[in-house]
Amino acid sequence: MKKKIIFLASIVFLALPVSAHQNVKNDAVKQRMQLMTVIKDTMAKIGAMARGLDPFTEESASTAKQTLLMAAADIEAKFELNETDPLSESSPAIWENWEDFIEKADDFSFMIEGLETTSAETLAAGLGNIGQSCGSCHKTYRIKK
Ligand code: HEC
Repeated sequence: MKKKIIFLASIVFLALPVSAHQNVKNDAVKQRMQLMTVIKDTMAKIGAMARGLDPFTEESASTAKQTLLMAAADIEAKFELNETDPLSESSPAIWENWEDFIEKADDFSFMIEGLETTSAETLAAGLGNIGQSCGSCHKTYRIKK
């Protein structure tokens, strides 16, 4: 009986997703990190299709674009609270220059809107612009730890 319980417990443990954010205590910070992770993962998906590592389909390209657009639109809400956590990489400059931060989020949306999802080639052509807008915001507002 005891053995069975241990066995079941180990299945439950294995089934839990490994979260990179499990040590983040502040919930608002955790949520904005999760949003950025969605953005990163979606960019990786688009990148893999653009490079032919994953098969290109217009449907998955367009779904990925929608995911990015929704995530970009969520930046304002997820960063609005000036909260912090020892693991946060957000610069306090975000809340001192809120309008500029939002402008960078808007630029990011604009670049995503320009992404053509009709072929692997058009994806590849649009990735650079999007990547630059990640970099432009990170340069000013993300402190790499
Ligand atoms: C408007 C600003 C802005 C834009 C645009 C932006 N980021 Fe971020 N990103 C941030 C900030 C600020 C943080 C730090 C969040 C924290 O730790 O509190 C961050 C953190 C991250 C992280 C770390 C998340 C974690 O788990 O700690 C990743 C990965 C990331 N961004 C990827 C991207 C990628 C890829 C793009 C573009 C496709 C992008 N970001 C666009 C501001 C931005």
